[in-house]
Amino acid sequence: MSHSQFPYSRPRRLRANGNIRRMVEENHLSVSDFIVPLFVMEGTGKKEEIASMPDYYRFTLDLLIDEVREIEDLGIPSVLLFAKVPDEKKDNEGTEALNADGLMQKAVRAIKKECPELVVMTDVAMDPYSSFGHDGIVEGGQILNDESADLLAKMAVSHAEAGADFVAPSDMMDGRILMMRDALEEMGFVNTGIMAYSAKYASSYYGPFRDALDSTPGFGDKKTYQMNPANSLEAIKEAISDEQEGADIIMVKPGIPYLDVLRAVKESVHVPVSVYNVSGEYSMIKAAAEKGWLNEEHAMMEALIAFKRAGADLIATYFAKDAARLL
Ligand code: PBG
Repeated sequence: MSHSQFPYSRPRRLRANGNIRRMVEENHLSVSDFIVPLFVMEGTGKKEEIASMPDYYRFTLDLLIDEVREIEDLGIPSVLLFAKVPDEKKDNEGTEALNADGLMQKAVRAIKKECPELVVMTDVAMDPYSSFGHDGIVEGGQILNDESADLLAKMAVSHAEAGADFVAPSDMMDGRILMMRDALEEMGFVNTGIMAYSAKYASSYYGPFRDALDSTPGFGDKKTYQMNPANSLEAIKEAISDEQEGADIIMVKPGIPYLDVLRAVKESVHVPVSVYNVSGEYSMIKAAAEKGWLNEEHAMMEALIAFKRAGADLIATYFAKDAARLL
């Protein structure tokens, strides 16, 4: 019998009390891991709770600034912006997405003015601007790839002009990172970073987010561009090609159901990896906690540390403020 077997080995020795557990803890969460997704809407003086995301709000820009100050005061380094676009400004060309005075562009300018040190990231995708609720231009029931990627590259430049530190394409068109990097370089935005949603799955966990932005697809689903939940090889391929095309940060999305993908991607690229703890993951914990079925704080912290264990360097999460307060 080896001395590394019972009874010589007793793993419970390392779990005997809080201090020894702390000493051998392998992974740590830090406030600096967090990216806070924020929803901005038109108007002034309003904040609206998202029906399917308890305690989470859409803000008009004036109130968003207060929210951002609070985020910065908590020591959280970054926000990721999403704009809610009124129906009358939606079309199939993403016209409003390129408006230099659009809501997203105004929000970036206002936040950078107020909190110049905060890392401001912007969602680059057509769906909030699309009359079809799709992430690209639609023709004959198809989502066009190259035309959409071209628009996304222009959108990225528009966000960079407004002062975004990072653009975050969440569309899953092929080749868009290269087109975006080229466009940014050409316009002189050599220091604007790209956080690529590289392994983004066609997931039912985005439901509450689509409520928040009123961006549910008008027809069909997103399966011709977002990935099949049954697959992981293509996640690695997407991550590697986005890194080669110039992505500075690679993202895996959703989080909890895709921890294996997160680990595999982390081992395949040489840039930081982020994970998006998406709206449905947030709402599930909130709903179970409301019913008294789960302890919200514990379930939240367990999910967040699981991302670190799986290899995440950064975590985009609606729980960021709550977790930051506990840390
Ligand atoms: C859209 C986008 C989505 C999310 C982020 N960007 C939804 C979708 O692809 O339909 C989901 C985020 C979440 O659920 O929290 N490009």
